[in-house]
Amino acid sequence: MTNKRILSGMRSTNPRLHIGNYEGALRNWVDLQAQGFDMFCMVADLHALTTMYENSREVSDNAREIAKDYIAAGIDPSKSVVFIQSHVREHSELHLLFSMMTPLGWLERVPTYKEKKDDMGAAEREPYGLLGYPVLQTVDILLYKPYGVPVGRDQAPHLEIGNDIAIRFNRLYGKEVFQPYKYMIPEDENRAKLPGLDMRKMSKSYDNCIYLSDSEDETAEKIKKAFTTPTKLKKTDPGIPEGCAVCQYLKLYSPNWEEQWQEDRDGIRGCMQSKKECTEVVNEYLRPMRERRKAVDDATIEDILEDGARRATEVAAATMAEVREAMGLR
Ligand code: TRP
Repeated sequence: MTNKRILSGMRSTNPRLHIGNYEGALRNWVDLQAQGFDMFCMVADLHALTTMYENSREVSDNAREIAKDYIAAGIDPSKSVVFIQSHVREHSELHLLFSMMTPLGWLERVPTYKEKKDDMGAAEREPYGLLGYPVLQTVDILLYKPYGVPVGRDQAPHLEIGNDIAIRFNRLYGKEVFQPYKYMIPEDENRAKLPGLDMRKMSKSYDNCIYLSDSEDETAEKIKKAFTTPTKLKKTDPGIPEGCAVCQYLKLYSPNWEEQWQEDRDGIRGCMQSKKECTEVVNEYLRPMRERRKAVDDATIEDILEDGARRATEVAAATMAEVREAMGLR
C-alpha cells in the first residue's frame, strides 16, 4: 500500500463530543493513527452551517472545542493533520465545480437529506446548501485522495455518491484524477451503538450524554441518575442487563462485566453498586483524555489548527491544480 492517507470529519454543530462519538468514530481514528496511516482529521464547520447558518459564530467556536476533543481522544497533531474545513479554501472552490456536474436526482434520494429536509419544515426555509451536503462531503474526501474513509454506517450513502462523482469526473474530463476509496465502517457495531444514559440513542438533544470533557464528578452525577431495570426496585429483584444503561457501560468498560451482569440478574447486586462500579471504570477510561485535554488551551489549539490548515492546503491545492488542468480551466 503506497497511499496511506485517511480522511474523516465531524460536524461542529455541538461544542462537545460524547463517548458515543468516541466509540463510533474517534476511537477508530486513533487506532488507524497507531497503525501508521496519515490521518487527516477535519472539523466540518461548513457542513454544520447547512443547518446552523444563523449561528455561524457558534459553529466556529464549537469547531475549536471539537478539535480539542480530537486531541483529548488521542489524535497526535505531530503525526496527524487536524484542521477546520473552512480554513482550506479549496473545499469551497471544488464544491462549486462538483455542484455543476452532480445530477440532482443523486442528491434528492439520499436518506439523510430527506430526513433533514423534513425537520426544516417548509421549502422556503430549506437552504440550497443542504441538498449539496454530500457534494461537499465528496470534496472533503477527494481533495485528499485518501486510501479510505472511516465513518459510521449512516454515512455510507454519502460515500457512495463520492465514488460516483469521482468516476463521473474522470469520465467527463478524460483523466484519472480520482481513484476510488474504501469505506471503513467499524466492525464492532455494538460498540458504535452505545446507548445514552436513558437507553435511547446518545444525543445532545436528549440530554443523555457523557461528554469526553465531563469532569469526574459530572460523570458520577450522570451515572447516578442513569436508567436501570425499571422493575428492579430492590437489590433482590432480578435485573435485565440488556435493557439497563449502566450494565451496557459495564459491558464496554469493565473487565468483569459478565460476573456483574449475572449478579444483577440473580438479584445479588443492587443498582447502586453497579452505578458505583460503573462510575469508577468510566472515569478510569476517561482519565487520560481529561489529562490530554488539560494540556491544550485556546492558544495551543489555534497553533495546531494553523499548522493543520497549512498541511491540508498543501495536499488540497495540488489536487485542485489537477482538477483545473483536467477541466481545461485557465
Ligand atoms: N457527514 C459526516 C457526519 O455527519 C461528517 C463529515 C463531513 C465527513 N465531511 C466528511 C465524514 C468527510 C467523513 C468524510 O458524520
